[in-house]
Amino acid sequence: MIKYLSGQNLKKFSGKTCLLRVDLNVEIGMPLDSYRLETVIPTVQLLLKNNVRVVLMSHRGRPKGIDKELSLKPFAPIFTRKLRVPIRFVGTLDFKEAKKEIGTSKNEIFLLENLRFLPGEESNNAEFAEQLASLGDFFVNDAFAVSHRANASVAAIVKFLPSYAGLLLEKEVKNLDKAMKSDDHPFTIIVGGAKVSDKLGVVKRFWKKADDFLVGGSPASTFLEAEGMDVGDSLVDAATIPMIAPYLNAKKIHLPNDVKYQSTKILDIGPKTVKEYADVIKQSKVIIWNGPMGWFERKGFGNGTRGIWKAILANKKAHIIVGGGETVTSLKTLYPKPYALSSNVFLSTGGGAMLAYLSGEKLPGIEALR
Ligand code: 3PG
Repeated sequence: MIKYLSGQNLKKFSGKTCLLRVDLNVEIGMPLDSYRLETVIPTVQLLLKNNVRVVLMSHRGRPKGIDKELSLKPFAPIFTRKLRVPIRFVGTLDFKEAKKEIGTSKNEIFLLENLRFLPGEESNNAEFAEQLASLGDFFVNDAFAVSHRANASVAAIVKFLPSYAGLLLEKEVKNLDKAMKSDDHPFTIIVGGAKVSDKLGVVKRFWKKADDFLVGGSPASTFLEAEGMDVGDSLVDAATIPMIAPYLNAKKIHLPNDVKYQSTKILDIGPKTVKEYADVIKQSKVIIWNGPMGWFERKGFGNGTRGIWKAILANKKAHIIVGGGETVTSLKTLYPKPYALSSNVFLSTGGGAMLAYLSGEKLPGIEALR
């Protein structure tokens, strides 16, 4: 059974050190960076309130060895500003030295260097995990977004320390479970973004249950090409065409009936499609959305994704899950001013992790906590 973090079970750790896994795999200055940072703050605050010292750890990017560009150092001042508590960056990759530095410091919060600089992280190496574990007295996983990876700081580490799910991980799992188990209808899945292959697991898993699949982005171009339309030079996931064959021409699959081209490439869905999709969203009781409708970052091609957001934000009754880095980023890009996100909408920090969880896969980081 997963043990969730609470004030009650933290009593025994007063004066101790928590190794807190978070996901800082973001580009600084992009909207997702503040979202991923902000969502772990409640866990950090709960730990501090209970007189626990916190050692934050994360990966960033996919470095092959040490890569200064992917250091986590810039996140220390960002976290310091958000938490209003000074954070000490521990730059050494020698865990014995890191232990000394943490042990002799007056700080309450520390941030380790990018764990993927060391090969043991991605190979889920037990010895590496044991050395990492020596830096704390207990472990908390608040990194749902990387829990689909069997990495040492989310999986192997649980063998060496009492382990808990953080407040964010709990929220992610409970919200996704609620949507997955819901018997409310209409049940709508929206897929867009770059690759149809990433979303296929979700389409398969919800094929019987969902009433409507609204398709945009490259998955739409791939479906349209598979149905015989000439999509020019649009981004098509050709290798996936044989796999989508069972879903072609199905009534519950909605494909764009108008699109916006730049030269010979489809870069967005058109206004008629936005209207059709918005009507479905309006009626829906459960909605799961991953992947923008078009290349929203490019001027003139954000209307499809903006239209979907408008419909999502207007539906105050459905249980709505939105995930994927780009989709979350699109909200902050297309609605730069504060927007009202009501409590029925849950923004998942997970991209691949959300899709894997929704597809019914067992996530190593979550299984490890069980
Ligand atoms: C993410 O941003 O989706 C996670 O941090 C996982 O990153 P990865 O795909 O490099 O493992």
